Amino acid sequence: MALLNRDDWYDIARDVDWTLSYVDHDEAFPEEWVGAKGIPLEAWDEWDEPFRVSYREYVMVQREKEASVSAIREAMVRAKIYKHLDAGHQASSQLHMGTTCMVEQMAVTMQSHFCRFAPTGKWRSLGAFGMMDETRHTQLDMRFSHDLLNEEPRFDWCQKAFHTNEWGVIAVRNFFDDIMLNADCVEAALATSLTVEHGFTNIQFVALASDAMEAGDINFSNLLSSIQTDEARHAQLGFPTLDVIIKHDPKRAQQILDVAFWRAFRLFQTLTGTAMDYYTPVAKRKMSFKEFMLEWIIKHHERILRDYGLQKPWYWNTFETALEHGHHAMHIGTWFWRPTLFWKPNAGVSREERKWLSEKYPSWEESWGVLWDQIIQNVKSGEMTKTLPETLPALCNVTQLPLGSAMDRFNLKQHQVIYKGRVYQFDSEVSKWIFELEPERYAGHLNVVDRFIAGQIQPMNLEGGLNWMGLTPDVMGDDAYGYRWAADYSDNRIAAE
Ligand SMILES: [Fe+2]
Ligand SMILES: [Fe+2]
Repeated sequence: MALLNRDDWYDIARDVDWTLSYVDHDEAFPEEWVGAKGIPLEAWDEWDEPFRVSYREYVMVQREKEASVSAIREAMVRAKIYKHLDAGHQASSQLHMGTTCMVEQMAVTMQSHFCRFAPTGKWRSLGAFGMMDETRHTQLDMRFSHDLLNEEPRFDWCQKAFHTNEWGVIAVRNFFDDIMLNADCVEAALATSLTVEHGFTNIQFVALASDAMEAGDINFSNLLSSIQTDEARHAQLGFPTLDVIIKHDPKRAQQILDVAFWRAFRLFQTLTGTAMDYYTPVAKRKMSFKEFMLEWIIKHHERILRDYGLQKPWYWNTFETALEHGHHAMHIGTWFWRPTLFWKPNAGVSREERKWLSEKYPSWEESWGVLWDQIIQNVKSGEMTKTLPETLPALCNVTQLPLGSAMDRFNLKQHQVIYKGRVYQFDSEVSKWIFELEPERYAGHLNVVDRFIAGQIQPMNLEGGLNWMGLTPDVMGDDAYGYRWAADYSDNRIAAE
């Protein structure tokens, strides 16, 4: 039987809009969900996605991807690869599963918003593929973690993490609640699809996949790469949305992208910057986090801005300084506050590792090495209590990350706003600017320290905090190598040569 070419029927099949007669259009498509903000309905006729994939083709391709992931998974589980992996790398996969699995599940809901409320039928049709993609990603993460539960209880956090108050998880959940679940369709397309899925996920799913492969974790690497093939596809819906917004409201487009870029950057510094530059064994590292950011994320983002006639964010100089320092700050902070983590961080500061860090970040010794020297001194003299926290760090009311964690010690400043009688603190002038754009959006949230002060965490000490975060002794973080790296400094020389 002769079949029509796809192009002969595709436009009819995907554009299923019709004129509503039983209900008012604005009631069926409330502005709060759509987010068109006055852009006329006809303008969305120009919205055109580049997928051009039918349901039959989608299912065929996805089935093949699943078969290939499954085959590798079965072989790797049988070969019991995981327990032979480097402890630093193991931390990367635990961190990924705990902080990402439920974000995939949240993305299912975001895509379902597109299916129901996007301002054009073409986009709504596409949301269905996005939902199936994100469901697959959640299930891949769950299956990977389930396979490893007997070997490592931390993989329970794949499912559990988002049901706890662990502070890092709150930071992740806060960001994705905001740009996926709280955002209207237009904002979600620009902040999530264009900025996070089309840009930043490359760090997690390409750079980390490549490091994982080098570290011998074929199963994890394969899973990440398979997920990224979906992300790269469904993220494309950001572009036609930007096409429409640029014509009607370029100022709004600029603002959404500038806010999302900073918040995504801070979060990926925390999740991937530490994993790439400290947890991955030094001999297996391909690129530094900064090199990867410059090559894959910044060039890509600058190109989008240029192509659409937009400006670089006003905070570009601050961003460049934060790119040099923020993830080192997050790393020393997370290692120091290691009991508050559900994974075991690798300090990553042996002499060899410090040499690598100084090559990639010329000011590393001056900014960070001196602080690590003090920690090393304490480890060497057996004063372990001095290497552990007694209190909680003050946190930013936008990013939920510690104050001071965007910069090094030479660039610290206080950023604060008093709004309706309450004091809000920020990790940077950029996070403060984000708050001031829409204070009501952020003002109601209490960060961990706010809750502590409000008496919600009892007893009011670190132990009470850990308990409140759901951190049990079997998963609580400690140094990945049991401080064996400190032996590198046994001859009383502390500073790296
Ligand atoms: Fe996903
Ligand atoms: Fe996605």
